[in-house]
Amino acid sequence: ADSFDEECDYLFKAVLIGDSAVGKSNLLSRFARDEFHLDSKPTIGVEFAYRNVKVGDKLIKAQIWDTAGQERFRAITSSYYRGALGALLVYDITRSPTFNSVKKWLTELRDFGNPDMVVVLVGNKSDLGHSREVDLEQGKSLAEAENLCFMETSALQNLNVEEAFLEMINRIH
Ligand code: GTP
Ligand code: MG
Repeated sequence: ADSFDEECDYLFKAVLIGDSAVGKSNLLSRFARDEFHLDSKPTIGVEFAYRNVKVGDKLIKAQIWDTAGQERFRAITSSYYRGALGALLVYDITRSPTFNSVKKWLTELRDFGNPDMVVVLVGNKSDLGHSREVDLEQGKSLAEAENLCFMETSALQNLNVEEAFLEMINRIH
């Protein structure tokens, strides 16, 4: 183990969910490695990334799981959610069908996830305001109705990405 592992106080597992191509993998690569890929391929199966975060005087190792939005590429759902304390539920502000799917993802969270899971609803691609189909207010009011945190992000412009993950991690703690 490296020195961080020896000093790490907690390991948190969190998951990314949402329809295909909403930007889950790019949100994660932005948060974990400050990378963005315009030409990213759909995720197949499950990938992980880690990032070390300081919360108060504690060192948290956040282990973030990323899977396919496309059903046919998804790994076994129950193992994906097992032990997860937080979730980012992502839609694409330029495609309202991805926002309409949020209810479906919440049902899956309730079926497979820990009931105390901290969920942040994320409207991604805020840089594409000219082709917006989902208003900020729609995201906000859905989050309020479902008792979720809410944020619009841009993985491309690196807007609110850090904030969305840290909101989740801080609330877990
Ligand atoms: P699946 O793995 O199929 O579930 O998709 P995903 O949700 O992981 O989406 P991914 O991160 O692969 O991004 C899909 C496409 O959207 C890619 O072409 C990205 O470059 C693009 N994209 C992701 N985030 C943003 C963003 O914030 N703004 C813009 N303009 N494009 C984005
Ligand atoms: Mg992906």
